[in-house]
Amino acid sequence: MTLDVEKIRSDFPILNRKIGEAPLVYLDNAATSQKPCQVIEALTDYYSRYNANVHRGVHTMSVEATEAFEAARTKVAKFIGAPNPESVIWTRNISEAINLVAYSWGDANLSAGDEIVATVMEHHSDIVPWQQLALRTGAELKLIPRTEGGRLDMEAASSMISPRTKIVAAVHMSSVLGTINDVKALGKLAHDNGALILVDAAQSAPHMPVNVEDLDCDFLGFSAHKMLGPTGIGVLYGKRELLEAMPPWMFGGDMILTVSYEDASWNDLPYKFEAGTPNIADAIATGAAVDYLSELGMENVRAHEVDLTAYALECFAELEQVKIMGPLDNADRGGIISFTHDTLHPHDLGTALDRMGIAIRTGHHCAMPLVRSYDVVAAARASFYIYNTPSEVDALIAGIKETERYFLK
Ligand SMILES: Cc1ncc(COP(=O)(O)O)c(C=O)c1O
Repeated sequence: MTLDVEKIRSDFPILNRKIGEAPLVYLDNAATSQKPCQVIEALTDYYSRYNANVHRGVHTMSVEATEAFEAARTKVAKFIGAPNPESVIWTRNISEAINLVAYSWGDANLSAGDEIVATVMEHHSDIVPWQQLALRTGAELKLIPRTEGGRLDMEAASSMISPRTKIVAAVHMSSVLGTINDVKALGKLAHDNGALILVDAAQSAPHMPVNVEDLDCDFLGFSAHKMLGPTGIGVLYGKRELLEAMPPWMFGGDMILTVSYEDASWNDLPYKFEAGTPNIADAIATGAAVDYLSELGMENVRAHEVDLTAYALECFAELEQVKIMGPLDNADRGGIISFTHDTLHPHDLGTALDRMGIAIRTGHHCAMPLVRSYDVVAAARASFYIYNTPSEVDALIAGIKETERYFLK
């Protein structure tokens, strides 16, 4: 094991809880991760010691809050290899980050005859904003298909991305299949055709090293709550020259430079895109989450999940009635295993496992068209993080076997 998992677990108070009589086995990390005490303490520290608004006051607490808020932005910029903190915009979550690009950049740059290329693996958050942009502008949305094995069809991608393409939107790690897509190659295809690329890093940024300069992506977004941080805060990274040229999307305090009764002018980056009082406490706590992950090392986080997923795939192979959606080999996949059962409905399975303290996700995982493309309406999903152990994988497998015995006897 590349991480000291026992030590990590001691930082997460919630992992001591029981569900009924059973100890919690939390395997729903793709939905949201648990929070270490360092993140929880960052929140209580802000509210109990220096709660004040940012960018506005000269008093001590306002200065302290502003410094901590901006320091968190700098930590996030470093975490994703952004060349400057001004390219990091705080949003509510990745959904808002993608909407920001679709409304601000999209409305200003797209018209009939243009094409948006996404993939069939997108979460609803990276498909619906583009559908709506296409409706508003008359542009066409095209989707790169997947292979039988649950990978992106890169040959199809290279024929679909053309000089008509204005933006490619692609998920880095699928929240259903676990597939890690070659977004760098997609970015090159986009750039060769004069288009931009937006990377949905909701599942990759928490689990593997992500570097925006190496990927050469134009936009990238993620949500703090999936990477040990609080809910209600996310990030949009954008290349500076693009963000500079984009019009604001929301209007109000903080995002202005000057205001008259008739007109207004816009503040510099990143504030141009941060109207109103920001989510100060959660931004600061996101900084604490980034510190925690950086201290572990994202290479080590990834290595831990590669090991755990390899073990889980081996164990799943013993379950004759279970079919895994997505890549079966462990190359280029993350710790997300979605599966169906020949005879058990995912909701029955999820409910039975919950009685044993095991939390998994069941349903369409906010990727309805992708799940339906496997001829099912719902699937079960187990997803791992830094605090999960092989014995929790054993508990899941034993739980599935126990449910089979109960329902199928
Ligand atoms: C790949 C992917 N994109 C986008 C999202 C949306 O995240 P949020 O609801 O935090 O905006 C998720 C959440 O599950 C996701 O897995």
